[in-house]
Amino acid sequence: MESNNQNLSGVPILDDHVQHQFISEPDQTTLHANPLRRGLADQRTPQPCIMVIFGVTGDLTARKLMPAMYDLNSEQPLPEGFTIVGVSHRDWSDETLRNEMRKGVEEHARAAVTDESWETFAANLFYVRADFRARDAYDGLKSRMIELDDERRTGGNRLFYLATPPSYYDDIIAHLGAVDLARRQDIYTRDPGGWHRIVVEKPFGRDVLSARELNRAVASVFSERQIYRIDHYLGKETVQNVLAFRFANVLFEPVWNRHYVDHVQITVAESLGVEGRGKYYEESGALRDMVQSHILQLLCVMAMEPPAHFDGNSLRDEKVKVLRSVAPPINPNDITARTVRGQYADGFVAGQQARAYRAEKDVNPTSRTETYAALKLEIANWRWSGVPFYIRTGKRMARRVTEIAIEFKRVPHMLFKEQSASDMTPNVLTIRIQPDEGITIRFAAKVPGAANNLRPVRMDFQYGSSFGQAGPDAYERLLFDAMVGDPSLFARRDEVETAWGIVQPILDNWENNFESPALYDAGTWGPYEADMLLARDGRTWRRP
Ligand code: BG6
Repeated sequence: MESNNQNLSGVPILDDHVQHQFISEPDQTTLHANPLRRGLADQRTPQPCIMVIFGVTGDLTARKLMPAMYDLNSEQPLPEGFTIVGVSHRDWSDETLRNEMRKGVEEHARAAVTDESWETFAANLFYVRADFRARDAYDGLKSRMIELDDERRTGGNRLFYLATPPSYYDDIIAHLGAVDLARRQDIYTRDPGGWHRIVVEKPFGRDVLSARELNRAVASVFSERQIYRIDHYLGKETVQNVLAFRFANVLFEPVWNRHYVDHVQITVAESLGVEGRGKYYEESGALRDMVQSHILQLLCVMAMEPPAHFDGNSLRDEKVKVLRSVAPPINPNDITARTVRGQYADGFVAGQQARAYRAEKDVNPTSRTETYAALKLEIANWRWSGVPFYIRTGKRMARRVTEIAIEFKRVPHMLFKEQSASDMTPNVLTIRIQPDEGITIRFAAKVPGAANNLRPVRMDFQYGSSFGQAGPDAYERLLFDAMVGDPSLFARRDEVETAWGIVQPILDNWENNFESPALYDAGTWGPYEADMLLARDGRTWRRP
């Protein structure tokens, strides 16, 4: 049982024995593989298995999962017998599934689709109709899986993927356990019936309590090492490269701390609006949708200490330490001073007229849901004490860009008489996660000529020109990792709960405070109030 303990910053922590469970089990990465070694062609080989996608008729399967599986198979053929069983309540057949999936793959996969390539891939797809809540449906699913297992020699290996609305998760998990489709396996289990794993899609809960409940529900059937909580930002090449940049180079680590860093800005801006997901978004908002998951993961990889080993538990231990050190605003005055919530009004994005959030389909015309959030966070530890981390995310912003910008302190003494230290622009290191992936360092250079004039210039690394090929989609990487049993890029139980603990006081305050979010015109960089958040500290947001 978890306790209701909180650390000094108010973030809930887990009881010792729950934490111990994470530390005591070596994972497969420690034993077998090193994910940094993986290039586009991975040396690790997945075993044949049946991947069961619950919610196969949904948008996520068509846009992400099936294209990722197709691309993986085109890159490096999946083991013979590899099987996908799609489950949903719709009246589909194997044939319908194959035809429907082709559309999504043609639209979203990287690899080309020909009749021949599609037929080869589609021969591995099967459909089972089931009501997720009905126990008998799982008996039917089990019989079909036993047959397929036999025909296709998948050795009883099963990868379950929860791609349904989260309200079905509890039922699916409980039924999988009840009909013995999934069995608990820990490090010492030698299960001749094959391995069983489960991938749980985001959102993982909608607050601390529901996340804990869900964790308990999954843990009642699966052990922690069988559970893969997905956050697709961790599957992005550029996010993994933050670790390579920091820990495979000696240059940057000495200045990666409060002695040299003035502040950090993390921006996840989208130009799209809610894209027909009004119903989901009304229940979610930017803080739940982006900050609790993706942005806190970016914060972790940027701020964590170097792990001793590159394996799932060492990495995640360090990330959890960062999350536990985050001091979120807790009291109402602090929340007002350190957070901003915004919502987009009418405007223009890339020259196209965009309607206000409140006019979107399935959105309440008086909605107070935030489509923009900005926060000033502090990481109360030896490395980062006193360095503000400003984070912001929004829909319908000026353009799509995700970046981590580290602004360094100014030089302590100015040698160049023509310029004063205060009007010199400081060094900035920008890690561009997407699009235009790369890393830029801004520094001062002398303008050619007799005078000692200086001007900021940039040193630029671009993925495109250095590597000349697009990396795999995040889902490709993550699905592959789940198949080979590598949990490094998935969130651990304590990580998810601690992240919820950081946003919880803000969620509560925003929910109980009847002020409306600050409006910003679609196609801009967010509300005026967000500019004031930095202006109060004598700083400005970057305009990427
Ligand atoms: C999802 C959110 O998790 O991430 C979406 O639910 C958001 O609202 C998306 O648009 C952003 O992902 P990416 O990879 O396009 O930056």
